[in-house]
Order: sequence, then C-alpha cells, then structure tokens
Amino acid sequence: MKKVARISVNLKERSYDIFIGFNQLRSLGNFIKKLDLGNHAVIITNPKIKKLYQSKITPGLKKNNNQTTYIEIPDSEKSKSLNCLKSAIGKIVKIDIKTRLFIIALGGGVVGDLGGFIAAVYKRGIPYIQIPTSLLAQVDSSIGGKVAVDLPQGKNLLGAFYQPKMVFCDSSFLQTLNLRQLKTGLAEVIKYGIIADKQLFEFLENNYHKVFKLEKDALNYIINQSAAIKARVVSEDERETKGIRTILNYGHTIGHAIEAACGYEADYTHGEAISIGMVCAAEIAHHLNLCSLKTLGRIESMISIAGLPIHIKNVPLAKIMKTYLHDKKFIRGKNRFVLPTNIGKVEVHENIPENLIKKVVSERIKNK
Ligand SMILES: NC(=O)c1ccc[n+]([C@@H]2O[C@H](COP(=O)([O-])OP(=O)(O)OC[C@H]3O[C@@H](n4cnc5c(N)ncnc54)[C@H](O)[C@@H]3O)[C@@H](O)[C@H]2O)c1
Ligand SMILES: [Zn+2]
Repeated sequence: MKKVARISVNLKERSYDIFIGFNQLRSLGNFIKKLDLGNHAVIITNPKIKKLYQSKITPGLKKNNNQTTYIEIPDSEKSKSLNCLKSAIGKIVKIDIKTRLFIIALGGGVVGDLGGFIAAVYKRGIPYIQIPTSLLAQVDSSIGGKVAVDLPQGKNLLGAFYQPKMVFCDSSFLQTLNLRQLKTGLAEVIKYGIIADKQLFEFLENNYHKVFKLEKDALNYIINQSAAIKARVVSEDERETKGIRTILNYGHTIGHAIEAACGYEADYTHGEAISIGMVCAAEIAHHLNLCSLKTLGRIESMISIAGLPIHIKNVPLAKIMKTYLHDKKFIRGKNRFVLPTNIGKVEVHENIPENLIKKVVSERIKNK
C-alpha cells in the first residue's frame, strides 16, 4: 500500500486532492510545492497545536523556501467570531508586503472553519490548504469547503463555500488528541457507515478496539472510507442544492437541537449530540416501518460500544423541542429527516409527525 493515499474532490476548476497517511508530515512541503500557492505560508492554529506540531510543520515549508508566519487563535469555539477574524486579518495585512500569501489551517474544525473563512474573504479570496488535526476535522469539516464564523444570533451564520487547494490528513495527529475528541470524530465515522458504507460499519463493529488503540491501519482505513464518502457527496452536490449533501445530516436534526439547547459548550460535544440524534432518527425510521428492529439495535449498540451516549441527560424536553422548532423555520415550515432503512442506506423524509419526534426524544431522556 502506498504511504500516502489520495482521494479527489471533483469540482472542475475547484477540484483538489485529499492526502491521507500516517507520520507523513516530513513530505508536506513537497505536496505544497507542487501546488505553487505562494511563497509565504500564514498558518492559522491555536497555542496547543502550535506547541505540539510547529517543529514538524515548519522545516518542510522552509525547505521549499516558504516564509512562515503563525497566527494563533484561542482554543475555543468562541474563536469562530468576527473579533477573531478581524484580529487575524489585521496581522495578515501587516505581513502582506511584496509577497504571495497563502493560508494553512492547522487544527480541528474551529481552526479549519475560521482559517478557511479568512482565506475566502481576504482580498476576495486567497488560496488555502487544510491540515486537519482532530478526527472530526479529518473525516468531515476539512472537506467540502463550508467555511464560517458564528454570530451572537447563531452558529455558522456568516459563511461561504470556498474550497481548499488540498487537504493533508496525517492520522498520527490523533496520538495527541484526547479520548473524548477521538470519540466525537468517531460518531461521524459511524454516521458514514450508516448512510453509505455497510463494510465500514461492520469494520467498526468488529475492530473498534483497534481504533481506540490508534492502530495505524485501522485509523487510515476509517479515515479513507469516510473522506471518500464525503468527497463523493461534495463532488455531486457542492452547494447542497441537489438534496444529495442532505444525507450527511443524518442524526444532525435532533443532534443540533440538543447542542443548541445546551449552548454549544461542554455538556455535549458535537459527536455526542449527533450520536443521540442518530439513535432517535433510527427509532423514528423503525416506528415508520422503514427499518427493522435489528438495524435499530445494531445502530444503538455500535454507538454505545464506541463510548458515545444514546440517552439525553439533564436537558429538558421542552428546551430541545424549542430549539428544534426554531431550526425548522429555516426549511420553510417542513421538517426533514434522514432516516436509515438498513445499514449503509438512508432516505430523506419530510413532514415527520411532531408527536412521533416528541415521543422518541422524550423516551431518550434519562434524568439520573
Ligand atoms: N465546515 C464543515 O463542514 C464542518 C463540519 C463539521 C463541523 N464543523 C465545525 O467544526 C468545529 C468542531 O471541530 P472539532 O470537533 O475538530 O473541534 P475543535 O477544533 O475545537 O477541536 C477539538 C479540541 O481538540 C484539540 N485538538 C485538535 N487536534 C488535536 C491534536 N491533534 N492533538 C491534541 N489536541 C487536538 C483542539 O485544540 C480542541 O481543544 C465546530 O465549530 C463545527 O461547527 C464544520
Ligand atoms: Zn456533524
């Protein structure tokens, strides 16, 4: 097997490759050189990632005569803000003298979304690459060009579709990621299995312990399969206008309502919230005779053995339903759910009865 696997996102002139390997940071410079993006790399990252990885990233860039400037943002969702955007752009303007700049977003989804948004809006767009360091960013947020900052009124309200020139995914980054964050990324991997890849799901059922041991082959397999699904879906429906990209939202309708009800901090990570959302959606599918009890059981136990929650704790039903209904406004009065019909297959359904949603969610609430 090649040391670095390649997956293409096919979007005509906006096409790019996702490279996936283990311990391959020393070759990063060569990959960047081939793209000819500029001579000055502005690396957006946070202090934790910089401390861990600066010494591995900088030499490869310097070898190719790239100047490097690190811009650090605080390690928090709060960094996806107008303030942080303004401060980072202020620093970029100062170094943007007789040089060709490009951005490297080095970090998890927060850094990726902000770094990509800076690249999208600075001088109406400069090139950028994604170097995702969390599992969630490697399998999801770094691919597909959705970049954004949050506004006080809501998450990701100021955003764009702006594709990177490359995604460089090194699974050895996961050695320093904490277990909770590893699991949150794993929730998205489980999602890919349920929506489009029975084999991936079965691999996880049988080999989840290898993932937790961070075995190189297991990590590379799950990242490859997940990134390939995301790349395929994005290639077919870049801007979510054809309904194809919608399947990626499996588990996210109720998941988002739980996250929003908790104020997007600490109580539930994104992966934890969508885990509950995936079980709820599978239950709805079962109630509507779309999926068997066996499939529902497999989904529930997979999520559970991955150490992810299948029950909601300490969030009142009314609060979840309120945030859920608030979301609904944005899709013209109709609710829309991605429902599994089997492992590896989903259908999009609209107008699911509100009382069924309420029943399924309320049965998931355990106040102990
Ligand atoms: N653009 C998209 O399509 C898309 C999709 C999904 C999520 N998102 C966004 O992604 C964000 C969440 O991303 P996330 O889960 O990666 O969160 P994050 O970026 O906050 O990272 C999680 C934590 O892990 C740390 N971390 C990351 N990599 C590490 C490593 N290798 N070693 C040690 N620590 C490491 C980070 O510093 C942070 O503390 C949200 O803002 C969400 O809106 C975007
Ligand atoms: Zn998600």
